[in-house]
Amino acid sequence: MTDASSTPAIPVTVHRSDYRAPDWSIPDIALDFALGIDATKVGAVLSVVRDIDAPVPLLLRGDGLTPAAVRVDGEVWNDWRMEGSDLIVDLGERVAATVEIDTVIDPASNTQLSGLYASGGLLCTQCEAEGFRRITFHPDRPDVLSRYKVRMQGDKAAFPILLSNGNCIDQGEAGSDHWALWEDPWPKPSYLFALVAGDLVVNRDSFTTMSGREVELGIWVRDGDVDRTGHAMQALKDSMAWDERVYGREYDLDLFNIVAVSDFNMGAMENKGLNIFNTRYILADPDTATDVDYDGVEGVVAHEYFHNWSGNRVTCRDWFQLSLKEGFTVFRDQSFSADMGSPAVKRIEDVRLLRAAQFPEDAGPLAHPIRPDSFQEISNFYTATIYNKGAEIIRMMATMVGPERFRKGTDLYFDRHDGEAATCEDFVKAIEDGAGIDLGQFRRWYEQAGTPRLKLSLAEEGGHWSLDIVQTVPPTPGQPEKQPMMMPLRLAAFATDGSGDALADTLVMVTGATQRIALGTFAARPALSVNRGFSAPIIVDFERGPGELAWLAAHDDDPFARYEALQQLMLDTLVAAVSGKAGDNRAVIDAVGQTLEGAASDPAFVAEAVLLPSEAFIGDQMVTVDPDAIRRERLALQATIGAALETKWRAVLAGKAPPATDLSRKAKGGRRLRGVALAYLAATGADDASALAFRIFSDADGMTERQAALATLAHGDSDERIAALDIFYQRYRDNPLVLDKWFQVQAWSLRADTLDAVKELAQHPDFTLANPNRVRSLYGALTGNQAAFHQADGEGYRLIADLVIALDPKNPQTAAKMIPPLGRWKRFDDARAAMMRAELERILARPGLSRDVTEQASKSLL
Ligand code: PHE
Ligand code: ZN
Repeated sequence: MTDASSTPAIPVTVHRSDYRAPDWSIPDIALDFALGIDATKVGAVLSVVRDIDAPVPLLLRGDGLTPAAVRVDGEVWNDWRMEGSDLIVDLGERVAATVEIDTVIDPASNTQLSGLYASGGLLCTQCEAEGFRRITFHPDRPDVLSRYKVRMQGDKAAFPILLSNGNCIDQGEAGSDHWALWEDPWPKPSYLFALVAGDLVVNRDSFTTMSGREVELGIWVRDGDVDRTGHAMQALKDSMAWDERVYGREYDLDLFNIVAVSDFNMGAMENKGLNIFNTRYILADPDTATDVDYDGVEGVVAHEYFHNWSGNRVTCRDWFQLSLKEGFTVFRDQSFSADMGSPAVKRIEDVRLLRAAQFPEDAGPLAHPIRPDSFQEISNFYTATIYNKGAEIIRMMATMVGPERFRKGTDLYFDRHDGEAATCEDFVKAIEDGAGIDLGQFRRWYEQAGTPRLKLSLAEEGGHWSLDIVQTVPPTPGQPEKQPMMMPLRLAAFATDGSGDALADTLVMVTGATQRIALGTFAARPALSVNRGFSAPIIVDFERGPGELAWLAAHDDDPFARYEALQQLMLDTLVAAVSGKAGDNRAVIDAVGQTLEGAASDPAFVAEAVLLPSEAFIGDQMVTVDPDAIRRERLALQATIGAALETKWRAVLAGKAPPATDLSRKAKGGRRLRGVALAYLAATGADDASALAFRIFSDADGMTERQAALATLAHGDSDERIAALDIFYQRYRDNPLVLDKWFQVQAWSLRADTLDAVKELAQHPDFTLANPNRVRSLYGALTGNQAAFHQADGEGYRLIADLVIALDPKNPQTAAKMIPPLGRWKRFDDARAAMMRAELERILARPGLSRDVTEQASKSLL
């Protein structure tokens, strides 16, 4: 089997409306693995039961497999055939049978990292969404739930540790081999199966659940990494306690294992009782991980743990329901992280991510509802829409009913559907019944793609002010007409001169295409604070002058709204400048200066608030994105603010950095603000800026300061830049996760020659297409660097298309993820658009393309 041939590019579209319950269920599965890096024998025993009256053959999916033997009820069986890569077993009139199938797979040649694969001598699995069929023949659909018994045997020296789901119920030795027998008492879909074998060491701990059960916890990593697992372990215990406290959900096995692997397509995977993680979301110590990395570890550990209930105990009926588990679980991990740190800052980060990753998706050719109607390759639907917009939809339900009623709804959901494969509709119905709310119109969020826009204006009549709302939902592929959405809008209104009534925080339900909301009596136009806390995932169009925005940035009692006001002020200033309207920067400078006054009490919030909007987000405000003008004007404004407030930035930097081992909110915020201050100061071109950055780089006692200083230097043209990059490389060349940062800061650089640098880095001996983290650290960073990726000669597009073409035969999932940036061509000028399209067409012209890349590239052209 070669890897490329196992994913034929026959674009078959699967439709949600075609769902049919399975013909056969499989209450029990026994798997027997004879482990080997380049040949693993898999014996599968499926006890199958027919669920429909008429005789019907058993359809078992396969991907790159050949059956070595088929037996039914103990007898050699010849009534089977291959249909494409699937196995059809004719069981005649049988209503139940024991079907045994032997296969042999080659983990070493599995470069897709789906199924059973080798990662640096380790054997591990990744089965979501359709990887189990690369291990053995199986229906491999999430509504077929089975109890698994897994026996594995392998060389003691090569595979000293043998892990699978559930509990280890027996083990023994056989010559130079040893074996283990694992049993998972909880029925689960095949995508939650996992197995790991290799040389690992463990960080052990335990957790006592709310009913007093002792759970053994283990985080398994390579020898030498165990000292970096403390934060992940703490996050795990905090998550277990939080899910008990907030959702009443207790862990349900005596053992919870996590394994960290270096080669992984995604962040992590929630396999029952045996989570498998990308090392980047487990390993952290102050010397090698930034505060952002620490928060990432905490959030992802929580996310995967929370899946034990939202995903595993209640799973998905089919993959169209993916947001049922992902949207809800993201909402849960966001709430957890908010509780563990600063809710306001967490909300700002989440909204920033939504705007950076999901809004563009919703506005482009790959837009889809959080519950899609069709797909060709499900791997392409692990999107910001399913995850992050999905979380926003759950958040709106929670906002509309409040925490107590929401909890009644989720309790009912878990009660009703425990042990089942459920649908998004089941969730909505449970909230409707449990929380007592009519979600009729709200269901449109599951059906309609596109980011709703509210156009707002204020109207006055005899001193009574009201807010007029016009709602539109833009057309998206396949959905030309849209109905208005139902959404909770939090607002407040202030009399800026202190006269009249202030309207305190209010939740209004927006349901119509047009709607009027009374605000109260004000002597003059009130300052409106709207979509507070980002209560709805929408775009608000509301003309407000710099004075009003500055007032809100200083006075709004909702921190998120203060952040939004300052961001809007910055955005307006930047968009005007990019459009050639020379603006007055005074209001922005004053507002930033004013915000900095709060630095001592809440440095984390202030750091977020004074950060200029990203180049991409500025582009999103424009009819046609002009990457060069945006780069120029953003740097200019950064320099202006840098210079005008230079003493303040210097004051921030003059203080001592909090010790890197201090991970308190305040310390993290302090470091964040120092990074922002350094960037502003460097933007001014101050003579001593590079020397100062280099000193911070050299004196840093941890990675947060070190990386921030390195990133600042990487933008410039100083000798210190070259020195720092070299020192960093020499120091961390043996640490892959830190080396990723070295690639990333260079690909993120604002220098004019960044594309050339990226080309050179792709030839670096430490660069490899075999490791997804490394690919993302270079090319993912490049597509996040708007002016570099969109360089006028089209070289950035060429680089990404070359990458997709080179990577697709090895790892189609990761290759396909690089395509969406090329699909944004409608947003750019004709010359760029033509070059972007040409690259998509060049990709599509390649023979033997995967289904993943075919779907993304062809849809991106529409
Ligand atoms: N289900 C995983 C998560 O969200 C993501 C994932 C999907 C991982 C597919 C691997 C493959 O937690
Ligand atoms: Zn998830």
